[in-house]
Amino acid sequence: MALKWWQRAVFYQIYPRSFADSNGDGIGDLDGITAHLDYLNDSTERSLGIDAIWLNPINPSPNKDWGYDVSDYCGIHPDFGDMASFDRLLKEAHRRGIRVIVDLVPNHTSDQHPWFIDSRGSKTNPKRDWYIWKSCAPGTMPNNWHSQFGGPAWKFDERTREHYLHLFLEEQPDLDYRNPAVVEALHDVIRFWLRRGADGYRIDVVAQMVKDAAFRDNPFRTERDPDIPWFEEGTQIPLHSTDQPEVHDVIRGFRRVADSFDDRVLVGETWPIEQERLADYLRPEELHLAFNFRFVLARYRASRFREAIATTHRTFGASAWPTWTLSNHDFSRHITRYSDHGDGEARARVATLMMLTLRGTPFIYYGEEIGMRDVRIPRERRCDPVGRDGCRTPMQWSGGPGGGFSTAASTWLPMGDAKAVNVADQLNDQSSMLSFYRRLIRLRRDASALAEGSFRLEADAPADCLVYHRESSAQHLIVALNFAVEPRKIRSASGRIVFDTNLARIGQQSGAALQLAGDEAVIVEV
Ligand code: GLC
Repeated sequence: MALKWWQRAVFYQIYPRSFADSNGDGIGDLDGITAHLDYLNDSTERSLGIDAIWLNPINPSPNKDWGYDVSDYCGIHPDFGDMASFDRLLKEAHRRGIRVIVDLVPNHTSDQHPWFIDSRGSKTNPKRDWYIWKSCAPGTMPNNWHSQFGGPAWKFDERTREHYLHLFLEEQPDLDYRNPAVVEALHDVIRFWLRRGADGYRIDVVAQMVKDAAFRDNPFRTERDPDIPWFEEGTQIPLHSTDQPEVHDVIRGFRRVADSFDDRVLVGETWPIEQERLADYLRPEELHLAFNFRFVLARYRASRFREAIATTHRTFGASAWPTWTLSNHDFSRHITRYSDHGDGEARARVATLMMLTLRGTPFIYYGEEIGMRDVRIPRERRCDPVGRDGCRTPMQWSGGPGGGFSTAASTWLPMGDAKAVNVADQLNDQSSMLSFYRRLIRLRRDASALAEGSFRLEADAPADCLVYHRESSAQHLIVALNFAVEPRKIRSASGRIVFDTNLARIGQQSGAALQLAGDEAVIVEV
């Protein structure tokens, strides 16, 4: 079967506050993004060559959680422009063949959303049951659930002397998806942006939308998780607050709405309780794509990536399509994480070569293509309540004033070291990270084995290497990644080298055994 656009696409995630500031107020905006579309794809080799953009939330929001506390689902935050700037962005992107998906935050609204203002007004307000209100004995909580941002997930509201549920900040009350009126209201929101021409949605915390009907207490972890650093012993397992069977009905409803438009995509931010259950979200009538956080957060070890990849292939079967991501707006950038005990830049290249050659859809986070690192934010400049500012700093376009991001004297978050790392310098440097991304994205598009081929992990590889085969009817490629610092020999991979992390071996013949330097990866054509 022919692949869909979202199966062939390379996605690029843009954090709108930090991409490009067109009006000199120190905050990125939609016109800024439009002005840089040629950088993303102008259909020449000079541009990055991505196919689709995911925009983090652009709706009006009091910004307690930087757009993830929406106060109007059908508007544009004035910091970013207005509806006309959105329409321009969409038109200019589409003109270049770039699709645009937007962020949908259905699990909760801002406490400043008119729905919640009504809901908290009185126990008899028609919007009361749009949110989750519970009464309990004084000094107690309705149950033991924790907010993901720390503390109890319940907030006592003086006016009506009941608690409301918030799985994130108290300014982010959870909607009640057991109420059909809420489901209907969100269907209208989904239609709104699809009618305007958006190509789909990234859906925030999609697995949490439905809660246990009896609100049972959550259990606690008895051991720490090898991949997710904050899943420590003693933290809560969200057994009853996430991943409920009924959430799949809500998702199927969203999908029906999306399917009433042609060719749109739904991408879920999915944290299933058991990784095996990720595939459930990708059944034919559910999401098209879902993020795979076991892969995102895997420690830099062949064994951790192998497990994440093998589990995905084992559980996804033939119909579900994987995604691969290394960084996003919620975690430390991968180049920074990988720098902990090694050469971050070399490792980032190995991991990127992997991300862009696995079978599935890759998502690049703005700035990773130039090797942007987390920026240390002085205390007085911190914005995010839970410390994620470091990976959300302004795009480093040039070594000039304001890093080419803004003409303002000060930007909303501090600029990283734009003199050392920036787009302008890397565009003309054939060995730069940016050149590495540009060439790899093109190879991925042009090589049928990578674009549409089968995938098979090679069992016969050194323990600290990962080797896999991508095969189409016309082409057989072997991808070999060395996660070790020392050189390794790969026996079963001889052929012509078509790509390598240092862009130094292309065209060479590999010999009987393929030699890999430490922190090196290559693609061989058999
Ligand atoms: C998702 C978003 C994150 C946000 C949270 C609450 O995890 O990616 O940025 O804080 O949802 O909406």
